[in-house]
Amino acid sequence: MEKRENWGSRIGFIFAAAGSAIGLGNIWKFPYLAGDSGGAAFVFVYLLAVFFIGLTVMLAEFAIGRAAGLDAIGSFKKLAPGSFWWITGAMGVLAAFMILSFYGVVGGWSLAYFVKTVSGSLSGLSVEQYTNIFESLIVAPMEPIMWQLLFMGLTIGIVVFGIQTGIEKWSKILMPAIFIILLILIVRGLTLEGAGAGLSFYLKPDFSKINGRVILAALGQAFFSLSLGMGTMLTYGSYLSKKENLQTSALTVVTLDTLAAILAGLAIFPAVFATGLAPDQGPGLVFVILPAVFNKMPLGLLFGAAFFVLLAFAALTSAISILECVVAYLKDQLGWSRKSASIIMGGIITAVGVVCSLSLGIWSGYTVPFPGHDPLVFFDLMDVISSKVLLPMGGLLMCIFAGYVWKVENANKELTNGGTLSAKWLPLWNILVKYVAPIVIILVLLNGFGVVG
Ligand code: PHE
Repeated sequence: MEKRENWGSRIGFIFAAAGSAIGLGNIWKFPYLAGDSGGAAFVFVYLLAVFFIGLTVMLAEFAIGRAAGLDAIGSFKKLAPGSFWWITGAMGVLAAFMILSFYGVVGGWSLAYFVKTVSGSLSGLSVEQYTNIFESLIVAPMEPIMWQLLFMGLTIGIVVFGIQTGIEKWSKILMPAIFIILLILIVRGLTLEGAGAGLSFYLKPDFSKINGRVILAALGQAFFSLSLGMGTMLTYGSYLSKKENLQTSALTVVTLDTLAAILAGLAIFPAVFATGLAPDQGPGLVFVILPAVFNKMPLGLLFGAAFFVLLAFAALTSAISILECVVAYLKDQLGWSRKSASIIMGGIITAVGVVCSLSLGIWSGYTVPFPGHDPLVFFDLMDVISSKVLLPMGGLLMCIFAGYVWKVENANKELTNGGTLSAKWLPLWNILVKYVAPIVIILVLLNGFGVVG
């Protein structure tokens, strides 16, 4: 078996964990979900979900992963030998599979938009034309698949080369750049005429819009965006040295990720209203609205190109972490080499992703009924099962595991590095992990799927 790698430095870990968290979830998914679910009301529930449930689960994952020092399945086997808890990890590996399949498709769209911007084919068009361009891209059979293959090829390539040389180096250079470009976009969006309506849609909550579906969507999005509930953060924690402070690391990652999502919304909604579009455009929202904004900026082509290339990189650092979750399992549990695990699993996931892509176009006639939803195409099915079912359930199991099975005392020991770090917040965390998070997750799941009103 190969020796397990470790993170090169503290900051390297933060960048890589934040790199996993910040991705299409923040910039593509968060704004369109908020737009579909009433704007500020969704944002409000989302923030509660992130800071009460998300942060709680992240601490549990970091603690479990670092204490065991293994992949998502092996960690449970090591900390609770002979029990069935490894199933939590197995569910996570399944979720990783599903998420990466559609994630690779959207990563491909980002690459396609980079090239479209650079080639000038997005310059000087009307909003209707931007809508048409997006819609014809996603239904065209071959074009999106070529981009998806490129995106997945890059992902697999980086995972083949391992933690230090791959993930860490990329995250360090590219993460700060994403924040800078978002800030520039916000300034432009806010100075467009009519932007104010977008700002109040996004920031002034209408609480009557909150219902079970909105809450489940917000909770699922919190898990998705923070890379929680499937063992990604657990796996990343397992590469972390015993000296690091898990509490501040988790808080930093959660804050950065949330900031990125909020900024993305700020960059998008004022512009949506200024251009007269409806906010509930669905998955095309960023791909339609941002080209229209770049079009109205000096050096728009340059900023547009930079934005889409950064979006693709943000997607890449997340995609790497999803594949890593699967690879770490095969490597640690089944003794596969990193290289064959990455290539074989990456290949299978890419093939499933091709089905996702085709399900938006020529195979859009095949749908599956799903409780609480209109019939779903394969792409949406992968998304809904993973974000709204597997991740929240994974998070629920991690909380129960940390709180009751492995025991909260052991988790506390890990989170304070054996009693040497401050334990000021741990009593609160103990209540959250043992009672609040499990109960809330169960209720939200039941209510979101219409089981209890
Ligand atoms: N958090 C990533 C994003 O927001 C996606 C992701 C989900 C990554 C689950 C790892 C695990 O884009």
